[in-house]
Amino acid sequence: MRKPIIAGNWKMYKTLSEAIEFVEAVKSSVPATDKVDSVICAPALFLPSLVGKAEGTDLAIGAQTMHYENEGAFTGEVSPTQLEDIKVQYVILGHSERRQYDNETDEGVNKKAHAAFTHNLTPIICVGETLEEREASNTVVKVSSQVGAALKGLTPEQVAKTVIAYEPIWAIGTGKTATAQDANEVCAAIRKTVAEVAGEVAAEMIRIQYGGSVKPENVVELLSMEHIDGALVGGASLKPDSFLKLLEAGANA
Ligand code: 13P
Repeated sequence: MRKPIIAGNWKMYKTLSEAIEFVEAVKSSVPATDKVDSVICAPALFLPSLVGKAEGTDLAIGAQTMHYENEGAFTGEVSPTQLEDIKVQYVILGHSERRQYDNETDEGVNKKAHAAFTHNLTPIICVGETLEEREASNTVVKVSSQVGAALKGLTPEQVAKTVIAYEPIWAIGTGKTATAQDANEVCAAIRKTVAEVAGEVAAEMIRIQYGGSVKPENVVELLSMEHIDGALVGGASLKPDSFLKLLEAGANA
């Protein structure tokens, strides 16, 4: 039985005071970590404050991206060493928005996944197809190739600890969700790819989230599917009420 993982991806929303207010509002109501892993992935600027506010609670804090080098002349970047130093626990890698606007590549995502494990960070690796790819029946080919590339060279133990987020690009921020059955089918195909690259044990253990217009109204059905172990949530993670409802669904899944 895989423990559900619900992660909010705040993207480029909120000011520091709004972010702190949010964590103060939810922290005592976050379900226990033996039921669900609850994560907020915040803008880099807020991470030290939020880690401090969430310390000793069941809420974990994650970053939305990072560089793969420990240090160097990379203006504007944040390193895995820096995230580890301030006790960030998760990092989103390869989000489709970064693949689209910031030239994030499969190769880069793979380097970052290795760096994450070197620095005690759990990677949440995003994969997903465009509407064109879905309409051409290329969904499974696309996500399987992204998964294979991202996990290259990781040990089966590391793969088992990785989180993959299946986020169909056409479902992000559009209000259109994949049906639970469609999402489950793609997540099953992802698990099959993981078995091919890292073995059956890792494939049984790896957690696969669905992302794309997840909200309290549709999360229960999504989480009831065999291969969907959690959700990566944008818009509906921005309000305390709605985020807590998602966590509750995770704790009861
Ligand atoms: P929405 O939940 O706003 O569709 O965003 C999904 C997403 O991109 C999470 O990473």
